[in-house]
Amino acid sequence: MAQVFPKWTNKIPLAIVVGTPIVAIVVILLVWYYFSPKYTDVSYRPIQPVEYSHKVHAGDLKTDCRYCHSAVEISPVANVPPTQTCMNCHKLITPNTEKMQPVLESFISGKPIEWVRVHNLPDYVYFDHSAHLRVGVGCASCHGNIASMEVVRQAKPLSMGWCLDCHRDPDMYLRPHSEITKMTWKPPHDQLEFAEKAKRELNIAPPVDCSGCHR
Ligand code: HEC
Ligand code: HEC
Ligand code: HEC
Ligand code: HEC
Ligand code: HEC
Repeated sequence: MAQVFPKWTNKIPLAIVVGTPIVAIVVILLVWYYFSPKYTDVSYRPIQPVEYSHKVHAGDLKTDCRYCHSAVEISPVANVPPTQTCMNCHKLITPNTEKMQPVLESFISGKPIEWVRVHNLPDYVYFDHSAHLRVGVGCASCHGNIASMEVVRQAKPLSMGWCLDCHRDPDMYLRPHSEITKMTWKPPHDQLEFAEKAKRELNIAPPVDCSGCHR
């Protein structure tokens, strides 16, 4: 009888038996990776060169966020403070403890402390802090209650869907300017009235078209 299938096809059943589990394992690993907190970045919390605590400084001591992140209302990027800002207090407070050593070294040498970035959008996304703060979106809406964190961790996904959820309907996230750094602010009962008024007076129009965030 003439051969219908060429000889190499004899190997196909073997390839399926060996190949299928490998494909399955790869699929499982990919799903595991992309759905893990590492990929969505929620809870990402790198180890920092100094045991600096927002809970102590912004929580217990109630230092306003803008004392250190002074550019947040005037520029797209929120700055991390220079060592000089720390030394305004620490020349007098705990100047010689072990935890302060790297801060002192930085102050004396003039070499900035190498803080590790926590939040990081891809380069193809445009984001501007000052635009959000101008219209009364508070830090906590995007960063969670930082003043309760010993170590800063990413509280929100910072994904495109997350940005758009608020841009399509920001009403519950607009607050009076005086409240933007308050960590425990909650929308009051007349929030929707306030939001209507704010949107009119401040010309609030969050972009939902692609070029708004991908410039
Ligand atoms: C005394 C100075 C100081 C104050 C006050 C302060 N911060 Fe910070 N902040 C820092 C320093 C230093 C870092 C970098 C180290 C770190 O991530 O913990 C930082 C990091 C951050 C980050 C992470 C930045 C990144 O890498 O993505 C956020 C978000 C932040 N601060 C928000 C706030 C908010 C909100 C407040 C007010 C509730 C606040 N900070 C008050 C000093 C301060
Ligand atoms: C408004 C004043 C103030 C500023 C500004 C400030 N600190 Fe502090 N810091 C304090 C106080 C008060 C304590 C608590 C000291 C204690 O527990 O006895 C403290 C505690 C600390 C500690 C723990 C010290 C220890 O030995 O327990 C570290 C580390 C520290 N701060 C780092 C920093 C860094 C880094 C910055 C700048 C990003 C900074 N601080 C800015 C007031 C300040
Ligand atoms: C509308 C959401 C939103 C609000 C409101 C907001 N942030 Fe951010 N913040 C972000 C995003 C997104 C990033 C990452 C930006 C990037 O990677 O380019 C970020 C990054 C940061 C950083 C790291 C430096 C930088 O700019 O990339 C600091 C510090 C910070 N925020 C502090 C603050 C403080 C303090 C406030 C309130 C005064 C605040 N943020 C309000 C979304 C927000
Ligand atoms: C909690 C609500 C909220 C979240 C979350 C949010 N935004 Fe916005 N965003 C606003 C509002 C409100 C405005 C309108 C500002 C105005 O009209 O001046 C705005 C405006 C903007 C603008 C226009 C700024 C300008 O200069 O015209 C950009 C760009 C933007 N957002 C990017 C982002 C990106 C990227 C993210 C996610 C990483 C994000 N936003 C998350 C509320 C939010
Ligand atoms: C409100 C801001 C905003 C708008 C408007 C927006 N994007 Fe995005 N986009 C983002 C952010 C933030 C990311 C990064 C997501 C991440 O890192 O997880 C992103 C990521 C992407 C990516 C990379 C793939 C991915 O999903 O991670 C593509 C492609 C994209 N956007 C296309 C678009 C298109 C097309 C539009 C218009 C229909 C659009 N975006 C509108 C904020 C926005």
